Amino acid sequence: MTLRIGVIGTGMIGRDHTRRIAQVLAGAEIVALSDYNPAAARAVQADLAPDAMVYDKGEELIAADDVDAVLVCSTGSTHEAYVLAAIAAGKPCFCEKPLATTAEGAKRIVDAEVAAGKRLVQVGFMRRYDAGYQMLKKVVDSQIGTPLMVHAAHRNPTVPEHYVTPMAIHDTLIHEIDVFRWLLDDDYVSAQVVFPRKSSHAHGKLADPQIVLLETAKGVRIDVEIFVNCRYGYDIQCQVVGEEGLANLPEPMNITTRKNAALSTPIMTDWKDRFVDSYDVELADFIKAAAQGTASGPSSWDGYVAAISSDACVEAQEKTGQIIPITLPARPALYD
Ligand SMILES: NC(=O)c1ccc[n+]([C@@H]2O[C@H](COP(=O)([O-])OP(=O)(O)OC[C@H]3O[C@@H](n4cnc5c(N)ncnc54)[C@H](O)[C@@H]3O)[C@@H](O)[C@H]2O)c1
Repeated sequence: MTLRIGVIGTGMIGRDHTRRIAQVLAGAEIVALSDYNPAAARAVQADLAPDAMVYDKGEELIAADDVDAVLVCSTGSTHEAYVLAAIAAGKPCFCEKPLATTAEGAKRIVDAEVAAGKRLVQVGFMRRYDAGYQMLKKVVDSQIGTPLMVHAAHRNPTVPEHYVTPMAIHDTLIHEIDVFRWLLDDDYVSAQVVFPRKSSHAHGKLADPQIVLLETAKGVRIDVEIFVNCRYGYDIQCQVVGEEGLANLPEPMNITTRKNAALSTPIMTDWKDRFVDSYDVELADFIKAAAQGTASGPSSWDGYVAAISSDACVEAQEKTGQIIPITLPARPALYD
C-alpha cells in the first residue's frame, strides 16, 4: 500500500518533509498540499509534487477522501486545531513541534486521542531518531550503571533579532526537554534557571547564556547550558554520568586534518545540518505506523509533558534562581 499524505504548511520544514516523502522515502506519496499562503503551496506543488491537489484550507485537506494521513508543518500556533481535526477524522497525523502553544491545548489533543482509543499522533521530536542519541541510549541503558547526572549544552552561533529570552526554552531547549525524558526514561519534577555574565553579543531582550537545572523523579540532576550567540558554531553536547562510568553523545562525523602544525575538525554552523538524517528516520517511522492506521514514536503525551515542562522553565527564567516544581497529571494507559 502507498500511504497518501497531505501536508499542511509548506514553508521551510513543510517543503523539506514533502521532498523527503516525494524523493527519498518509500511507501508514501504526497497527494495534497495546503498553506495559508496559497502561493507557497503552489510553489511546492510545482517543484516537488505536481500531481498533488492544492487546498485553500487545511480542514478541507484533512477531510479529503484520498488523504490517508496528514503532516502538520504550519506555524506553531495553528497546530492544535489541525491535529484535533485529524483525530476527529481518524487519520494519523505527524505534527511538527510544538504540539500546541499551551499546555491546555496539548491536553485537549491528549484527551481527544484517548477518546479515539488509539494512537494517531506523532510529534516531530526528531532527536530520538538521531543515530548518535540512539547509540547513547543503548549505552546508558546497558553499560554505565544507574544514571546520576547529565551535563549538556545547546549552542547556536547567532540567532535572529526577534529571538528573545523565553524562546531559549520554547524553540531551543524544547528538544533537550523531550530527548532527556526519553534517554533517561524519567520525568521532571523541578526546574531552575540561572544567568551567568551576559555575552556582549546578546541584544537587550535576550539573556544569553542561560543555565537550566532540571531534576527528575528518579533524582537525576541535569544542567543544560543554552548559549545562542556562542559565535563558533552549532554545537550540541550531552554527557550522561552513571554509577559505573560516563557516556558522551558522539560528535557528528567529520574529517580531521593535520596541517600547518594544527589538528582540526570542522564544527557545523547551521542547525539544519546537524539532525538532517533523523528527519528521514522519523518520517519513515510515521509512514510505517500510519499505513497500519496508527502512530508511534513521540506521542501527544510527550508533546503535552514537554509543554508543561517548558512552561515551568519559562517561569523559572522569570523567577531567576527559584526552584519551580513540575507536576504532571497521571498518564493515560494509551501511552504506556
Ligand atoms: N523539528 C524541528 O527541528 C523543526 C525545525 C524547523 C521547524 N520546526 C517547526 O515546524 C513548524 C514550521 O516551521 P518553519 O520553519 O517551516 O516555518 P515557516 O514560517 O517557514 O513555514 C510555516 C508555513 O506555515 C504557513 N501557515 C501559517 N499559518 C497557517 C495556517 N493557519 N494554515 C496553513 N498554513 C499556515 C505559512 O504561510 C508558512 O508557509 C514550526 O512549528 C516549527 O517550530 C521544527
